[in-house]
Parts: sequence; structure tokens; C-alpha cells
Amino acid sequence: MAHRPFASAPYVVGKGAPALAPTHIPAEESLCPVVSHDWINSEYKHLVVDASPKALAVKPGQFFNLLCPSPDAAELWLRRPQSVYRIDRENRRIEFLYKCVGRGTFGLATLEPGDELNMVGPLGVGFAIDRRWKHIVVLGRGVGLATLAPISQLAGECGIGVTAILSARSAEFVMADDLFGKVGDVIAVLDSDATSAVEHVEAILKRLIAQRQADAFYTCGSNRLLQLMKRLGKAHGIPGQVAMEQVMACGLGPCYVCVRTFEVDGKKELRRVCIDGPVFDLQEAVGW
Ligand SMILES: Cc1cc2nc3c(=O)[nH]c(=O)nc-3n(C[C@H](O)[C@H](O)[C@H](O)COP(=O)(O)OP(=O)(O)OC[C@H]3O[C@@H](n4cnc5c(N)ncnc54)[C@H](O)[C@@H]3O)c2cc1C
Ligand code: FES
Repeated sequence: MAHRPFASAPYVVGKGAPALAPTHIPAEESLCPVVSHDWINSEYKHLVVDASPKALAVKPGQFFNLLCPSPDAAELWLRRPQSVYRIDRENRRIEFLYKCVGRGTFGLATLEPGDELNMVGPLGVGFAIDRRWKHIVVLGRGVGLATLAPISQLAGECGIGVTAILSARSAEFVMADDLFGKVGDVIAVLDSDATSAVEHVEAILKRLIAQRQADAFYTCGSNRLLQLMKRLGKAHGIPGQVAMEQVMACGLGPCYVCVRTFEVDGKKELRRVCIDGPVFDLQEAVGW
């Protein structure tokens, strides 16, 4: 893969880095060897890379802007954002779980073990957790499950229990259940048996609220599930966070390609998903 410099000389993982970015800058461009890269179902790939010390400081909910190889003979413009799926500090590795949807992700899918992945990050604002909470509820769908997955690590480190409600088209697309299963309960809700219907998910959430197992809500990947959590969070005074997605260009703040509308104290506000988020207060998110 051709290495095109981004903003500074990249940190080359596993070799002496030619130039380190100043330590006060939390993000850097790094060239990370691919350790493994496997299909986990017909649409999603699991990518594991060796990571630089700065990349390893990534927090759940933050993302990297990846320079994807072109899948064909033509140029591929712009990096593609992917949130971190798992942070393996012991082995100094970072994992991504992504859906192949277009030229960027199909190009990314061509990387093989031993190739280098050029990534910029960690970027954005990640999830926050309050150590006084005893039990949280995570509700995600589709690629949102990849973004929510590292909350299982965060909760595990804080000794907080989790109920993860994982919504998918069918059992094949339920992901991150192994990670959440280590720290709590997993409830899969599927389109194939109609358990993913909003009314059914609402009944599960109301039961968790009644059992005092919902100190906070976390969601990503579905507008209708966001609206549901927002409504129940407001009615029951439960704080919440949502990871938003938006098509991005720079991923760093200056281009304003990634703005979305939020509602703060009754007023509409535009915010950049890449730098003000991607994690936002649930009650301030307007949805799409
Ligand atoms: C902060 C952030 C974190 C993300 N984390 C993950 C992740 O962990 N796993 C994962 O699979 N995907 C994630 N995404 C979505 C991912 O960035 C897009 O799927 C990817 O950029 C598509 O690039 P492409 O060239 O393959 O597809 P394109 O050819 O650019 O687009 C193909 C289709 O995907 C849609 N699309 C493109 N970008 C986005 C986007 N940002 N959000 C929603 N739809 C989009 C397009 O509208 C189009 O319908 C994340 C996005 C953001 C902003
Ligand atoms: S992608 Fe450029 S400002 Fe967010």
C-alpha cells in the first residue's frame, strides 16, 4: 500500500518511528501492521492491528480515520471513520469491526496480515461512565453494535453491570455478544422473529427500569431506538449517551462536512460529529 503522509511523519508501529508527534497532541498518524483480518459473517470483517502507544490510549466511543486502499484502479478520496471495537492493551492491539458497504470499506477489506494500515487518531469524544452507577443498559443495532462494544470493557473496569440489547436482522448479524456476555446479560432482538419491534424493546427497557437496572442508557445505530431511549430516559430521569454517525471528510474539525442538528435548552444548534462527538448527550440528539 502506498504511504501518503497526512499531517506529519507517521509513527511506524514495530519499527523506530522516524518522527514522533509532540506528546501534547492526543492524535497521530500511524502505520499499523495488520495482525488478522477475517470475515465474521457475510457482511462484516474483524480487523486487528498492532497499535502505537498513542493509538492504544483510545477510549471507547472514539474513532480512527482510516486510509483505505482503493478496491480498484481508480483513486479513493478521503479517509473513512471507524470506531474502535476492542482495545487490547496487553498485546498492544486495536480491533475494528466494520460492515462492507462501499468503495472505502471494500478497499479496506483487501488488507492482509502483514500489510500496514494507515490510521489517524484517536479522534473525537468517547463515552463517559459514572463509577457510582451499578447497572447500565446498552441498546444498539447494525454497525452501532461495533461502536457500543467497548462499553463492555469500560463497564468491566468499573465493576458496573450491563444489560446489552442487541438488535439485528437475524441471528447471523448479532455482534459483540461475546464481549457483553463477559460483563452482563445479552438480549438479542431480531427482525426475523419480530422481537426487534419498538414495542417489544420498550417492554424490555421498562422492565429493567422497574428492576432498577437502568442507571444510564447508551445507544447507537438506529433512529427509532434512539427516539425510544430518549423518550424513556426523559420520562424516568435516566441520563444517556448516543454515538452519532455522519459522513466525514477531514475528521478533525475544520471542514464542517459532518454537522448535525442538536437541541440544547430548546434551541437548535449545529455541532460537528467528528470533534464535538461522536458521543453526545441523548436528550440533545435530534436524530435523523
Ligand atoms: C464516528 C464514526 C464511527 C464509525 N464506526 C463504524 C464502525 O465501527 N463500523 C462500521 O461498519 N462503520 C462505522 N462507521 C461508518 C463508516 O464510516 C462508513 O460505513 C464508511 O465510511 C463507508 O465508506 P465506504 O466508502 O465503504 O462507503 P461509501 O461508498 O462512502 O458509502 C456507502 C453507503 O454507506 C453510507 N455511509 C457512508 N458513510 C457513512 C457514515 N459515516 N455513516 C452512515 N452511513 C454512511 C453512504 O451513505 C452509502 O449509502 C462509522 C462512522 C462514523 C462517522
Ligand atoms: S469531518 Fe471535517 S469537520 Fe467533521
